[in-house]
Amino acid sequence: MKLYNKTAIITGGCRGIGYATVKKFLNEGANIVIIDLNKEEINDTVSYLKDYGKKVEGIVADVSNKSSVDYAINFTLERFDSIDILINNAGVVEDAQLLKMNESQWDKVIDVNLKGVFLMTQAVAQRMKEQKSGVILNASSVVSLYGNFGQSNYVAAKSGINGMTKTWARELGRYNIRVNSVAPGFILTDMLKKIPDKVLGMMKEKSLLNEIGKPEDIANAYAFLASEEARFVTGTILSVDGGLVP
Ligand SMILES: NC(=O)c1ccc[n+]([C@@H]2O[C@H](COP(=O)([O-])OP(=O)(O)OC[C@H]3O[C@@H](n4cnc5c(N)ncnc54)[C@H](O)[C@@H]3O)[C@@H](O)[C@H]2O)c1
Repeated sequence: MKLYNKTAIITGGCRGIGYATVKKFLNEGANIVIIDLNKEEINDTVSYLKDYGKKVEGIVADVSNKSSVDYAINFTLERFDSIDILINNAGVVEDAQLLKMNESQWDKVIDVNLKGVFLMTQAVAQRMKEQKSGVILNASSVVSLYGNFGQSNYVAAKSGINGMTKTWARELGRYNIRVNSVAPGFILTDMLKKIPDKVLGMMKEKSLLNEIGKPEDIANAYAFLASEEARFVTGTILSVDGGLVP
């Protein structure tokens, strides 16, 4: 088991890529704290996962709110001796073309996808510094590398994540903390639900493997990057996109 008895916080762990990552990490022997927005959904998720034989806790918190983040970190530290891994996975979309995007669409995506990653990492890195070890993994996106029609806010946030990843790798390496991002291509989750089949077909054709990815493809990349097998990997943005060509 790659992650035996490690404690991992996974934001947005109730759905999609986050949920697949929770299951993968449990299979690799980790204990998990899920942070998400809906209490009922968290309770259901935690109860589905009880058969894995590892400790799974869930806490309602909004990653874009500092007091909510601090509460979630205190909750974790009351239950676990260390925080070994943080997966900044929670994310939202509010798409509109530049000339139609309103301020609240801009603010929502920047608050959750960019500020949320900053707040979570700042709180957890303090603890990891004291431990003199840790792994921080961020959800970037291929669109941060190529841009995307109708996604000024989302592309700005994901490009910002790439920059923060490289900056934090520089700042935190001296404390034995590795920081990396995964840039998924198009992955079949709720996030793609609003996209018409025709557009999904076009996305599929853009992959050299002619496929839309599965949440498990990203979970596997996180598991590698979180493990000792990646001990010499930091400051990188790993594309997991089936060879997407813009
Ligand atoms: N699906 C894709 O094609 C794709 C591609 C590239 C990058 N990503 C990124 O991967 C991550 C996961 O995407 P997904 O497709 O699994 O999304 P999803 O919509 O299926 O799940 C997102 C989860 O985040 C939670 N969440 C949202 N806002 C939150 C907040 N403020 N605080 C705490 N939790 C919050 C949601 O409740 C949900 O459980 C996101 O950061 C997304 O931008 C996804």
